[in-house]
Amino acid sequence: GSHILSVSQFDRDSVSRILEVAQAMIPYASRQKRCHVLEGAILNNLFFEPSTRTRISFGTAFQLLGGFVHETVGQESSSLSKGESLFDTARVISGYSDVIAMRHPDMHSVAEFSKGSTVPVINGGDGANEHPTQALLDLFTIQAEMSRFDKGIDGLNIVLMGDLKHGRTVHSLSRLLSLYKNLTITLLSPKELQMPAYIVDVLTNAGHKVNITQTMAGNLNSDVVYQTRIQQERFTSLAEAEQYRGHFSLNKSVYQQYCKEHTVIMHPLPRDARPEANELDIDLNDNSNLAIFRQAQNGVLVRMALFALTLGVDEKLTQYEKEVTW
Ligand code: CP
Repeated sequence: GSHILSVSQFDRDSVSRILEVAQAMIPYASRQKRCHVLEGAILNNLFFEPSTRTRISFGTAFQLLGGFVHETVGQESSSLSKGESLFDTARVISGYSDVIAMRHPDMHSVAEFSKGSTVPVINGGDGANEHPTQALLDLFTIQAEMSRFDKGIDGLNIVLMGDLKHGRTVHSLSRLLSLYKNLTITLLSPKELQMPAYIVDVLTNAGHKVNITQTMAGNLNSDVVYQTRIQQERFTSLAEAEQYRGHFSLNKSVYQQYCKEHTVIMHPLPRDARPEANELDIDLNDNSNLAIFRQAQNGVLVRMALFALTLGVDEKLTQYEKEVTW
């Protein structure tokens, strides 16, 4: 197996295969059956930046396939804090592992780490650069949600909104979306937090219609609205981030006014729960088109698929199936 560092490494066929294997994981993730295809394998989960969903769903996914998980949380608990290089750290930890998942605050740090690793490394987010497994679970979610309306991914009208400058999930998702056909993508953000030009170029060069705007009216009338959090940890000061808070709030009244009847709402989470942030109001929690918790749940399926593909056991799942005994 090889590393998963960037979504740029995938073509449309490889993405389809990942989504197909993710779909095949439903019986195991929903506990209808067990699968022990990775029995005895060890995942080292290295999270040098905070995480709830990515870290825990990576671990859960690996355990659902029968493997063991070992976790390192925070740079202060690792000898990186004594000045050890990412290369040496990787060379050592890969000797203890069959696969490594890693998150780190610096852009391209996971790629640097992977050079020292003797086993596959999966990027769980490297600064503002990429979050490839999130983009794959987002794409899986778009496909699953749209299947309710007999739609595929080609031809969709999708809004990406919020902090598009620092949000690595929207960077990775845009790259993946560029593999599809005839999309209309609206990039809705404060001027200072616009999508980087190199990502806009990826979309336009792939022939998609890209609409850059600061207005909600007329633009949320889409198949999917993907909201993001102001990435305060990527600003030079908290005060700088604060000025953008509450700019483009999505709530019940905005949904009724601007969205279509069945616009699906996504968000990579975490959402900022402080009332003044209000990026995705809890008054939408009872809206059946709010996909955020299904989206987070799909993270387990997609990460199971990535482990199975990376370790070459994707065609052996049924062979290692067991009944649920509890
Ligand atoms: N979506 C996401 O990456 O969440 P965490 O930061 O909690 O892992």
